[in-house]
Amino acid sequence: MQFSSKSALKVLAMEGGYQHCRMSMVALLILAGLLPSSSSSSPATRRFQFNVEWKEVTRLCHTKPLLTVNGKYPGPTIAVHEGDNVEIKVTNLIASNTTIHWHGIRQLRTGWADGASYITQCPIRGGQSYTYKFTVVDQRGTLLWHAHHSWQRASVYGALIIYPSMAYPFSAPFQAEIPIIFGEWWNGDVDAVENEMMMYGGGPNLSDAYTINGLPGLLYPCSNKDTFIQTVDHGKTYMLRIINAALNGELFFAIANHTLTVVEADAVYTKPFKTKAIMIAPGQTTTVLLTANKVPDSSGMFVMAARPYVTSVFPSDNSTAIGFLRYNTKRTEEIIPPTLPSSTPQLYNLPQMEDTAFATKFSNKLRSLASSRGFGNFDASKDPAKYNLIDPPERNTVAVPSGGWAALRIKADNPGVWFVHCHLEAHTSWGLAMGFIVKNGPDPSQHLLPPPKDLPSC
Ligand SMILES: *[C@@H]1O[C@H](CO)[C@@H](O)[C@H](O)[C@H]1NC(C)=O
Ligand SMILES: *[C@@H]1O[C@H](CO)[C@@H](O)[C@H](O)[C@H]1NC(C)=O
Ligand SMILES: *[C@@H]1O[C@H](CO)[C@@H](O)[C@H](O)[C@H]1NC(C)=O
Ligand SMILES: *[C@@H]1O[C@H](CO)[C@@H](O)[C@H](O)[C@H]1NC(C)=O
Repeated sequence: MQFSSKSALKVLAMEGGYQHCRMSMVALLILAGLLPSSSSSSPATRRFQFNVEWKEVTRLCHTKPLLTVNGKYPGPTIAVHEGDNVEIKVTNLIASNTTIHWHGIRQLRTGWADGASYITQCPIRGGQSYTYKFTVVDQRGTLLWHAHHSWQRASVYGALIIYPSMAYPFSAPFQAEIPIIFGEWWNGDVDAVENEMMMYGGGPNLSDAYTINGLPGLLYPCSNKDTFIQTVDHGKTYMLRIINAALNGELFFAIANHTLTVVEADAVYTKPFKTKAIMIAPGQTTTVLLTANKVPDSSGMFVMAARPYVTSVFPSDNSTAIGFLRYNTKRTEEIIPPTLPSSTPQLYNLPQMEDTAFATKFSNKLRSLASSRGFGNFDASKDPAKYNLIDPPERNTVAVPSGGWAALRIKADNPGVWFVHCHLEAHTSWGLAMGFIVKNGPDPSQHLLPPPKDLPSC
């Protein structure tokens, strides 16, 4: 199972791998223009308005009311600078309750803004608003925000980008930033899926598709036009901000014929390393650099794909979402209209779904909370000797090996109640969760601030 933690503690979320427990394009292109520059700037207050509302959305030939923020799927990007004060007024325009969680934000002394329903706040009722206020302290990179009430995060999620106050520690200049957000789509109503699961006590109905930026890609029925295509210029380097907002699936992701350089995970820089693919658990985020240095065939396209890392015998959605990198060469401009490769694309670089060796190797490359991982039962006499106390990755969500364990080190520097839970939504519904309490420190500066006046009550 995977437990995603809240933030503030940099507490890790343990997503345990016990059995099956694992733990439009349009919006994205606009993004580049909306983002503040990455140069340093003095702290400011950045304000956003989020309306939680229904919107009719069609995927896989199924049209249904989808829960969204501001009618967008995926939701709007929040882009801020390290040190900024952030105020997001969330207005609930639906009949159900809701909350929004800023996944990975440390929330130093502002636990009231963490958004975990019934943990740090009562939900925002229909017709009411709550303004989440927090300061971004000592974090930079890619995170996500998502609803944190029942299964609303199935469609209520988006990127949360933090620009650094100092220059990036990696040198490659990059041409543009490309968000790559994975999600899951159900043709039916997601609340009903959860209710049915709780009523019968079995696993939930599997999702009907994985999505890249809300688009499933042409391997699914009726989805040719719902395929993510990113145009790139030959020779240029791009920053991919990769987010796994899926509910229940750990995913492999790769781009055919291209190498990815991982530079940051969960808003903490990593020692850069090159890889042909990544493994990313629900709730995790990572920034990778991609150089468009290949010669495409006549289609001008290279496929990108995400599919699950399957570690159990229980049924899981084992389908594949794909998108394309489209080289902006003279040759490809002549292709009017651009056509998608019609045959099943070759998913070069993408590990097989059961490739635990790759997943383990990948996780071990992440270096930057004492953290160690292992298969089988934890052995208190032998395993601590293997802890990496030198350069372990610092994460808000950890993928626990299937049938295995993870050891975490946290610094209890942030008072409040933190919801440590499996970030596989089905497991949270079943109760794989706990409240982790950090008490106030001796100094007034180590005290939780008083609750805001507009904090929703029960
Ligand atoms: C779950 O799947 C079953 C079998 O396909 C179907 O009959 C049922 O309507 C689905 N439930 C929901 C809530 O989508
Ligand atoms: C992509 O990689 C595959 C497998 O290595 C190779 O056969 C193919 O020629 C490559 N395609 C391009 C366009 O580089
Ligand atoms: C995907 O899962 C289905 C049913 O759960 C199974 O029949 C199928 O063989 C699986 N496909 C792959 C490629 O593992
Ligand atoms: C919303 O939450 C409040 C407080 O817990 C609860 O009393 C109310 O019944 C909930 N409303 C709905 C529609 O579930």
